[in-house]
Amino acid sequence: MARTKIAVIGGGQIGGNLALYAAQRELGDVVIYDVPAKEGTVAGKALDIAEQLPVDGCDAALRGTSRIEDIAGAAVVIVTAGVARTPGMTREDLLAINLKIIASVAEGVAAHAPGAFCIIVTNPLDAMVHAFQKLTGFPHARVCGMAGVLDTARFRAFIAMELGVSVRDVSALVLGGHGPTMVPISRLASVGGVPVAELIPADRLRAIEERTREAGTEIVKLYGSGSAYYSPAMSAIAMAESCIRDQKRVLPAAAYCRGEYGIDGLYAGVPAVIGAGGVERILQFALAAEEEAALAATVRAVRQSVREVEQRGLGA
Ligand code: APR
Repeated sequence: MARTKIAVIGGGQIGGNLALYAAQRELGDVVIYDVPAKEGTVAGKALDIAEQLPVDGCDAALRGTSRIEDIAGAAVVIVTAGVARTPGMTREDLLAINLKIIASVAEGVAAHAPGAFCIIVTNPLDAMVHAFQKLTGFPHARVCGMAGVLDTARFRAFIAMELGVSVRDVSALVLGGHGPTMVPISRLASVGGVPVAELIPADRLRAIEERTREAGTEIVKLYGSGSAYYSPAMSAIAMAESCIRDQKRVLPAAAYCRGEYGIDGLYAGVPAVIGAGGVERILQFALAAEEEAALAATVRAVRQSVREVEQRGLGA
């Protein structure tokens, strides 16, 4: 039986790690697509990873290409094409540059992998997901954005560091857009079933929420050039795996809302059930008043960046 095919669009820092993690988890065969100027680089990454796999004991075929038709038959497409944020640049600054890139990628994916489940990673995330779905015309269930898994992973990591406990036992959720307006739901965070609010003083918890909101920027500052790549890659892989293996994991993702949480006709970060059908369902719960207000603010920010995309004619 042929293995599942995974297409990674943009073989930069995140793309290379996506290919590595996908191969190490034996999710399928991987094609890394990039622009012609990067063909040697992505062919090199594919070969380098292929040569690691005997040591890992994992089977996967990898190739790097600048021919978009090589993504044909991909069951999952992960889009990281774009420029990464540099210090001083906000996610919204990225919009104009990356929108044009997403427009060309959308055309290629629509032509060559029309049945794929598509996970967008390129920032500014919420705007890029919107543009990609509009440009491809794919069903909303098959287009989503990777943000919430990463934001939640950061939140969980900081809680685990604070308490000196295993990250495995920290359960948490971050809602909303991918940016400073995201909404970490501390009220529901727990460690081994114990509410975090009972273990961490309120002021410390507020500081952890703030660090979560600024976590991407913290990495950008430390790197000096480029943005986070290990954690975004692993987060997108969790989503891809849940689809490929029909795990139906509940993963926060930028999913298309039709009234959930009062959000209508917009991609926003919500808890999504991801399975073979893509985003199969959105889980809902009652928000506290201040959470609702914070979510309304993040939705306003997402709507603003979607407006900007529309004003730029979707980049096409
Ligand atoms: N088609 C395919 N690949 C492209 C295109 C295109 N039209 N335009 C650019 N790329 C490629 C670049 O050549 C580069 O190899 O996308 C890759 C981006 O890689 P990096 O610059 O290393 O960026 P990375 O850190 O991987 O982040 C990618 O994800 O998290 C977001 O903000 C981040 O938008 C950025 C994206």
